Amino acid sequence: MRDTNAVYKDTNHSWNVFRYEDVKQVLNDHNTFSSQVSFEERSILSMDPPRHQKYRSMASQLFTPKMAMGMAPRISAVVKELISALRGQEETDLVRSLSIPLPLYVLTDWLGVPPEDRLPFQRWSELEVKYNSYTGGMDAYENESETLQDELCSYFQWMIDNRRRQPKDDLVSALLSVKADTGGFTDGELVDFCFLLIIGGIETTAHLLTNTVLTLDEHPAVLQRLRNDPDAVSKVIDEVLRYRSPVQSTFRIVLHDVEIGGHLIDRGEPINVWLGAANRDERIFENAETFDIDRKNNPKHLAFSSGIHHCLGVHLAKLEVKIAITELLTQISQFERIRVKELVPIHSTVLLGLESLPIN
Ligand code: HEM
Repeated sequence: MRDTNAVYKDTNHSWNVFRYEDVKQVLNDHNTFSSQVSFEERSILSMDPPRHQKYRSMASQLFTPKMAMGMAPRISAVVKELISALRGQEETDLVRSLSIPLPLYVLTDWLGVPPEDRLPFQRWSELEVKYNSYTGGMDAYENESETLQDELCSYFQWMIDNRRRQPKDDLVSALLSVKADTGGFTDGELVDFCFLLIIGGIETTAHLLTNTVLTLDEHPAVLQRLRNDPDAVSKVIDEVLRYRSPVQSTFRIVLHDVEIGGHLIDRGEPINVWLGAANRDERIFENAETFDIDRKNNPKHLAFSSGIHHCLGVHLAKLEVKIAITELLTQISQFERIRVKELVPIHSTVLLGLESLPIN
């Protein structure tokens, strides 16, 4: 598509952009390309300035590299516990036993949800993966997922009331204490933000971890190099983000007529923005189809988007996967034991990952 139909209107009347420069243009020009898909959008991801700016300046105070580093001991403890449980098992599914529980436990812990209250969060995440993996008859998943969503939002409201009376050392208390010119978050905004973290922070990180294990299994020389030089893990993760981007696409609406790649796009038309395709654009990444941890311009990838909506969880997600991969290499002396027997990819145009990754 990058070569033959770089800017293309599909049968659903949505435009699609695939080339790196076009994708970057759309992501960085929020005055022309809106994230607001409907009139009343409650998630930061779907807000435009000035509302987005207010939200973002408050939230970003808590999503710093320092914050992520502060969580390292807890992430290590969760990783050790999950990987120890893997050992000795005849065969297990890496997605269910590590990739999903890791970000789920880390994020719920950080928010302040005690382990005994985790179950509905776990069920909701499983449903999301199923929903993304399933091609037909999704009504049953949708109904259960909507009921759970209401339950989780009520739970967050309960937590907010509780932490307002008795602050603790957790993210909900920290978000309540964020001060801004505008007076901080309202309760409704906080509930929506906590829920977005669950939506945006679990499945994405899970797919990055699974995609990293899969890619290492396919590239034994890189795996060996990583064993000899554990510090190369960050390069590996960045190249997986480019090569197998967990978030493949995002969405914008055109606010006023604009030209992209010689095509006139009218005000009000929707655009699918293909991050994954941009990350394999030969015009930017030499031998883009090759997994190469030494490429010079790796950080240029758009796996976390670009512009005002650039992912807030970037430091946390990378750290979780870094600690998990390092520990997998340490605890499982023969990483080659991880054998891809049967791959079940998820069926999604937004996310790229596997429904399961059987290992033995
Ligand atoms: C936004 C990817 C993990 C929180 C985004 C966007 C992308 C993305 C592509 C922007 C979409 C757009 O421009 O329309 C990813 C990937 C992840 C990941 C690939 C893991 C590998 C996380 C985690 C958290 C998180 C762990 C939080 C704990 C957010 C938030 C936004 C966001 C709050 C909205 C930012 C804004 O609108 O200003 N993410 N994400 N993400 N992400 Fe992530």
